[in-house]
Amino acid sequence: MKIKLDILRRKNQNEQPYHQIIEYEIQDENTTLAAALTDINSRSDIKDMEGKPVGKIRWECSCMQKKCGACAMVINSVPRLACDTKLSEFQKKGKVTVEPLRKFPVIADLAVDRSILFENLKTLKMWFEEETTVNEQSIETSYEASRCLQCGCCLEVCPNFCADTVFKGMAAIVPASRLIASLPDVQKKEFFKTYRKNMYEGCGKSLACRNICPAGINIEKLLVNSNAAAVWKIPPLRKKRRT
Ligand code: SF4
Ligand code: SF4
Ligand code: FES
Repeated sequence: MKIKLDILRRKNQNEQPYHQIIEYEIQDENTTLAAALTDINSRSDIKDMEGKPVGKIRWECSCMQKKCGACAMVINSVPRLACDTKLSEFQKKGKVTVEPLRKFPVIADLAVDRSILFENLKTLKMWFEEETTVNEQSIETSYEASRCLQCGCCLEVCPNFCADTVFKGMAAIVPASRLIASLPDVQKKEFFKTYRKNMYEGCGKSLACRNICPAGINIEKLLVNSNAAAVWKIPPLRKKRRT
């Protein structure tokens, strides 16, 4: 079964992007977009729909197992991981559009420079400065937040995030919630100030990012708990226990 990959390409960030269609024969129903891109790039003669020779497709990947977030891209208008996207999903239409994430500078084709995410974590001082203790609630929150891949998919759909805004988006709120859950007292005042300025105040609470996370993180719960602790100063929501 053949599918048309309609890829938004450009050699570098100074070049105007253009769509290029490459036809691909899907191996089986589990073939992912990441597998297809790897397979196409392994060929010595990549050709577009008209049979014209084209260059290798630039994109990023590492784990191929939904663990690193490197392969995040916009697939049929939805930010997703290429290694978690089966091409058989688009079988009926016979075509899928593949574009780079739009909130980051494009390096080439589907590869973007997401270094701003890691710069933000450094600027916001996302680390413990003192020893701290954990409890059942903070372990639960830490585990949930630690699953963040820093893929940037949540930022793609966020109406309030741009690379140069004071608001750092859900990709910062999630790791911040891990910190807030077990912050030592000496760090609380300063970090809560940062949280309010760079995370709480800019977030419109629209929760457009709620269902987009490829790691399936419970974003809403982390956001509510962090706001409760850092802004409203009320105890966090606890997991309901069965009696
Ligand atoms: S809740 Fe809305 S404004 Fe806040 S991070 Fe998510 S998408 Fe952005
Ligand atoms: S919260 Fe989810 S969507 Fe956002 S960066 Fe982390 S893993 Fe990606
Ligand atoms: S390659 Fe690591 S998440 Fe897709």
